[in-house]
Amino acid sequence: MAIRKIMVLGEDDVLRKRSRRVDKFDKRLRTLLDDMADTMYKADGVGLAAPQVGVLKRAVVIDVGEGLIELVNPEIVASEGAVVGPEGCLSVPERRGTVERPERVTVKAQNRDGREVQIEATELLAVALCHEIDHLDGVLYVDKMIEDITDQDEDEEGE
Ligand code: NI
Repeated sequence: MAIRKIMVLGEDDVLRKRSRRVDKFDKRLRTLLDDMADTMYKADGVGLAAPQVGVLKRAVVIDVGEGLIELVNPEIVASEGAVVGPEGCLSVPERRGTVERPERVTVKAQNRDGREVQIEATELLAVALCHEIDHLDGVLYVDKMIEDITDQDEDEEGE
């Protein structure tokens, strides 16, 4: 297990590339997932995608406070509704903004052993899934951002 360097927007174009599907569920993948979880927790993030640590593989880790979720080759297979909420990204430091996301999503993926898993999510987990899966296609939340959240807004919201 190790902490990896988080790529920052504007410093490395790896964040803008499309990640490849994972077809080998080997020790290398397990190490990557372990390191991604360590790196996410160390940075106090709720999600991290492999390209954020410079690896163009379709793998993400998420923990919205309900335990670690590891997803390999995740795909949104159904979504409904729309909700606008605040987002930030470890690769876009010191910035937050509002983004419209589906209210509910169904995601199919594989776990670290290659077994198929399916997740239905709402609220923060749905947002995190959409945000992290976007990273695998080189898309960042700032591309979809409706408006910046300033420190003053945060004070008014009491966050
Ligand atoms: Ni992000």
